[in-house]
Amino acid sequence: VSREMEQLLQAYEWSSKLYHFLLNNTEHGKPAMDYLKSRGFSDKAIDTFQIGYAPARWDTLVQFLEKRSFDLSAMEKGGLLSSKQDGSGFVDRFRDRIIFPLHNRSGKVIAFAGRILGEGQPKYLNSPESRLFTKSRTLYNLHQAKTEIRKSRQIVLFEGYGDVISAWEAGVHNGVATMGTALTESHASIMRTLADEIIVCYDGDNAGQAAALKSIPILEAAGFQIKISLLSEGLDPDEFIRKYGAERFRLQVLDGAVSAVKFKLIYLKKNHILLEEDGKVAYIKDALEVIAPLPSPTEREIYLKELSAELQVSFDSLKQECNQFRQDMQK
Ligand code: UTP
Ligand code: MN
Ligand code: MN
Ligand code: MN
Ligand code: MN
Repeated sequence: VSREMEQLLQAYEWSSKLYHFLLNNTEHGKPAMDYLKSRGFSDKAIDTFQIGYAPARWDTLVQFLEKRSFDLSAMEKGGLLSSKQDGSGFVDRFRDRIIFPLHNRSGKVIAFAGRILGEGQPKYLNSPESRLFTKSRTLYNLHQAKTEIRKSRQIVLFEGYGDVISAWEAGVHNGVATMGTALTESHASIMRTLADEIIVCYDGDNAGQAAALKSIPILEAAGFQIKISLLSEGLDPDEFIRKYGAERFRLQVLDGAVSAVKFKLIYLKKNHILLEEDGKVAYIKDALEVIAPLPSPTEREIYLKELSAELQVSFDSLKQECNQFRQDMQK
């Protein structure tokens, strides 16, 4: 670790302590605390996740870092400060935002995500990538979740910070999240060193479900047993827990997670109107494209039987068509 990186780590650690203190103990932090409370975050969660608040001023951190003799231009490169437009100095990068510190696997703060209080753009302002922080390799909360993940060999993958935190409050301590960007092979292989099974618990909206679909080949390539959660009403896990409670989240959303094949079938089904004959036919074609390539005959049979019951089409004709698909695949 170079001296420059050590300085930056030190700065992130102290800044996160400062922001956490300002949230918990000052008048400045009151609106942010009210916002977090209105969303249902407990004091315990605020402490466990070291949530903080960056005040609505230009120089809270500039002053703090200057007093401690940090090299401000290095702090700008590291994402804590921004350069002034005219190049005459630096201002705080995070202003009037809730601060979620992001940690590396050993628990050192390497970046911040700053959420706006309420509505506005961007919703989250993140530290830029630096020598400490690479989005494609960082998983939120991995440092705290890794013990539980190793013990259970299971990991739950979320989209957002709030989802990880709510799930944690609901007793789910093996949850992590990517940084909003797509799941990468690096994320998958890092998780795979700790777990055999993964539950993908992305948001119930279209974007979340599309992202879950895209995650399947990446997680398959890493050798995971994959389960995928289905969230109703377009809710995200955080919203689901606030609305329906911890128990229903664990039973319905986590224990009720479905296989990757099942998820694909449910996903494809949404594109078709099954009350109409040509809708049914089109859905069967899509479904067979998922089912036919499965190497296990019993697995194919299970899904074909479900399809047969669901669409009121005979198992024999589905099986025949499936075999035709398999023959065509070999050509
Ligand atoms: P969501 O839009 O689902 O946000 O983005 P959220 O996590 O539910 O946020 P809340 O509940 O409104 O506070 C999922 C994740 O994508 C990243 C963040 O990591 C977020 O948690 N993201 C989203 C960004 O980095 N920037 C953005 O502007 C929005
Ligand atoms: Mn504290
Ligand atoms: Mn989302
Ligand atoms: Mn969300
Ligand atoms: Mn949310």
